[in-house]
Amino acid sequence: MNEPIVAVAWDDCHRIGLDEIDREHEWIVNDFNTMINEFRTVTDRRLIEKIFDGFVNATVSHFAHEEASMIQYGFDDVETHRNSHALYCGHLARLRIKVYAGIDVTDALLDFFTSWTTIHITKTDQKFGDFLKARKLTDPQVKILTATTTW
Ligand SMILES: [Fe+2]
Ligand SMILES: [Fe+2]
Repeated sequence: MNEPIVAVAWDDCHRIGLDEIDREHEWIVNDFNTMINEFRTVTDRRLIEKIFDGFVNATVSHFAHEEASMIQYGFDDVETHRNSHALYCGHLARLRIKVYAGIDVTDALLDFFTSWTTIHITKTDQKFGDFLKARKLTDPQVKILTATTTW
């Protein structure tokens, strides 16, 4: 039996300083690690599709939540950020086609998620955290009103 792997370890460098967003990011990182380990052991294709779709839904929900909070707080670079999310969604949609064709996407997913966590969260999302901090809109003042998922 293979030892469980930690594909991406949640780390303080991933925090942008906004509790609700940080909580979602941490949840997604943990969900991703669980998914990668399940992909190594689960053989039922329907179950793999379900696990993958759960990850995609959480990701899309997070993106929508983050974009809504950016609009809510007047972030000045929402369009660029939205485009970046759209690229990740497109990537996930292409991987989903492969998952449903029974193709192993583990390596591609590891590349995808490493890019998301090391480039997008720690740099692109961080710009939003910096924007809020510069305006002293840090927790607990900031309460995002549009959450659609219980994290
Ligand atoms: Fe983002
Ligand atoms: Fe994010």
